[in-house]
Amino acid sequence: MLAVLGQEYPGVQLFGIDREPKQLAFAREHLARAGVDATLQEADALALPFADESFDHVWMMWFLEHVADPPAALREARRVLVPSGAITAVEVDYTTVRTQPSTSALEALFRAMAHGMAASGWNDAGTRLPGWLREAEFRRVDQGERPFWWQSDEVAREAPYAADVAESALDALLQLPGTDEGELRAGLADLRTLPQQPGAGLGWVVHKSTAVR
Ligand SMILES: C[S@@+](CC[C@H](N)C(=O)[O-])C[C@H]1O[C@@H](n2cnc3c(N)ncnc32)[C@H](O)[C@@H]1O
Repeated sequence: MLAVLGQEYPGVQLFGIDREPKQLAFAREHLARAGVDATLQEADALALPFADESFDHVWMMWFLEHVADPPAALREARRVLVPSGAITAVEVDYTTVRTQPSTSALEALFRAMAHGMAASGWNDAGTRLPGWLREAEFRRVDQGERPFWWQSDEVAREAPYAADVAESALDALLQLPGTDEGELRAGLADLRTLPQQPGAGLGWVVHKSTAVR
């Protein structure tokens, strides 16, 4: 995400945090490949190692879905913003994932993914995001709801990616009550062959909400 921001806004001073050293190591390599300078630091988003009013903008993506108390993380983000500062937060709603055509195995796979996210965080963080921002006292919240629907070449790129993500979570999904290994593996196979189906599409709803301090 920092690489995209650095390329879109050359000259902007970028800082990034993560509490996982291996995520930071990956980010360092990725930023070097992208030719973007950013200061990365190991830190907890709920206790940022920055003074009040340090930043013009805070950007977070696919993060609040993992946090037990999202408004607390947003309040901490608000603390480090200057009074005229703004936030952009991007989160998806996993309960909205769908394909065209669909199969019962694909639906079972997406249901299991949504249950898995709910078990470890939030599966509908995107839909909750505007409310969380208001709870953290952000103003002028723009809900930024964006339905994505990939077709043709895009579905050929996105379906294998979605299948890789789902497959990497398979062991955890099989621990959930009511999941069946054969059905989930059939769903993965259907997702991998989705791009070969006539008129294939894959989509979900993403929220890119913005707000000011
Ligand atoms: C799905 S990834 C986000 C990816 C990133 N936004 C990007 O675009 O590449 C979620 C990240 O949040 C980190 N994380 C979760 N809870 C955190 C916390 N309390 N403080 C800091 N990082 C946290 C995880 O280690 C993980 O790297």
